[in-house]
Amino acid sequence: MDRILIVDDESSIRELLSMHLEERGFGVLSAATGAAGIRLATEGAPAAIILDMRLPDASGIDLIPELKKHAADAPVLMITAHHDMATTILAMKAGAFDYIHKPIDIGTLDLALDRALEVRRLSRGSDYLSVEANRTFKFDAIVGTSAAMQQMFKDVGRVAASSATVLIAGESGTGKELIARVIHSYSAPKKPFIAINCSAIVDTLLESELFGHEKGAFTGAVAAKAGKFELAEDGSIFLDEIGELSGNLQAKLLRVLQEREVERVGGVRPIPVRARILAATHRDLAEEVKHHRFREDLYQRLKVVTLVLPPLRDRPEDIPLLVEHLMVKINQRLQKNLRRVPREVLEKLQRRQWPGNVRELENVLTRAAVLSQGDMLLEEHLVETTKGLGGQPAAPVIPLDAQILTLDEVERAHITRVFNVSKGHRGKTCQLLGISRPTLERKLRKYGMVRDDEPSDGSTGA
Ligand SMILES: Nc1ncnc2c1ncn2[C@@H]1O[C@H](COP(=O)(O)OP(=O)(O)OP(=O)(O)O)[C@@H](O)[C@H]1O
Ligand SMILES: [Mg+2]
Repeated sequence: MDRILIVDDESSIRELLSMHLEERGFGVLSAATGAAGIRLATEGAPAAIILDMRLPDASGIDLIPELKKHAADAPVLMITAHHDMATTILAMKAGAFDYIHKPIDIGTLDLALDRALEVRRLSRGSDYLSVEANRTFKFDAIVGTSAAMQQMFKDVGRVAASSATVLIAGESGTGKELIARVIHSYSAPKKPFIAINCSAIVDTLLESELFGHEKGAFTGAVAAKAGKFELAEDGSIFLDEIGELSGNLQAKLLRVLQEREVERVGGVRPIPVRARILAATHRDLAEEVKHHRFREDLYQRLKVVTLVLPPLRDRPEDIPLLVEHLMVKINQRLQKNLRRVPREVLEKLQRRQWPGNVRELENVLTRAAVLSQGDMLLEEHLVETTKGLGGQPAAPVIPLDAQILTLDEVERAHITRVFNVSKGHRGKTCQLLGISRPTLERKLRKYGMVRDDEPSDGSTGA
């Protein structure tokens, strides 16, 4: 039987909670002061601790580290009458697991307690992936155990030994740029690596970026400028999103590949190209050729060595290693200490579709790291991110020409959405919406989302 320790100086609260918890089948330890709480935490090995913020002999926040010393794996739920931001932040920083406001809503408390015990169960289990604490992140490491990635490593090795042009294809976020950098670092590590995104700038500008220009070649060309091909010297030039190149520049690039020389815009003398050309695209270039959007002859030159990065959903076996690798990176960047990922959470990740591939996985893990307390990655921290939003969650953007809704209609729709997300759990819905239980009940009735005769204490509904 799990024991729950209650530390609160108000006897009515202790009694109320004891009764409820005993009814739920827990053992209860209860203390009226901080000192007694610490003694019981030491002797009683509680599974979780419910801790009042203000005690006669101590502040709850100061007690947290003490309690953790004696009952290390018991999550602490704080209770307080205050709704202010600063105390919440301080309590969470001190290591509280969650926070419950007075007057205590039993549904909310149960929800928080169940979650706390679940986390404890997961963290006591041994079935998790652990992230080494002292490993330093290697920026140019590509990880993967799948057959496809193993083959990729071999191909990269072979390619690195030559100076052949390489075309890297794959969906967005599959690691195309990373592969390009790794090829470079294994073939010409001391030489420049010059990357340019062919879709990011307008055609005329791109031309002078790639090939350079002479002074006075066009309005604004006040000085001569070397192009990227020159700057790459005998290193590598990475042409990202090459599928977006205009017809005009495709023709010019073809010439570069044939002649191995460039001419600056407005220039007269050819400049030899010594750099290795690495190109990437998320498009199917063969398909582009078929539709006359990409030159066949250029494609033939580029595709001699083609590396195709498979989408992440086709290689779920890579996910554990990727998670471990990315967690080291994220911990370092965010000064976090996420060390453990329960096996069941990993399995959930492996079942996702990942339209944004490894980049999306990285975004999801980054958000999780920001949201999480403690060293365990939890499923509830894994928010779906939307591809292309740079890791931001999908915000409900209302187009300007959309039908104008009243505030009530928006509120009703939003409550419905959150209610669905919480699987009908009212305590959770209140938490997410930041409103009290009575307020939620009132709104549910107002919008006809419950029948008037329905009891309001159920955890399922509508
Ligand atoms: N196999 C891998 N091992 C480790 N990290 C990876 C791997 N694949 C991708 N990443 C990481 O995922 C992120 C996205 O990779 P990258 O930018 O190379 O993708 P991309 O294919 O160029 O994407 P896009 O088409 O959107 O430009 C990077 O942070 C990269 O380091
Ligand atoms: Mg890229």
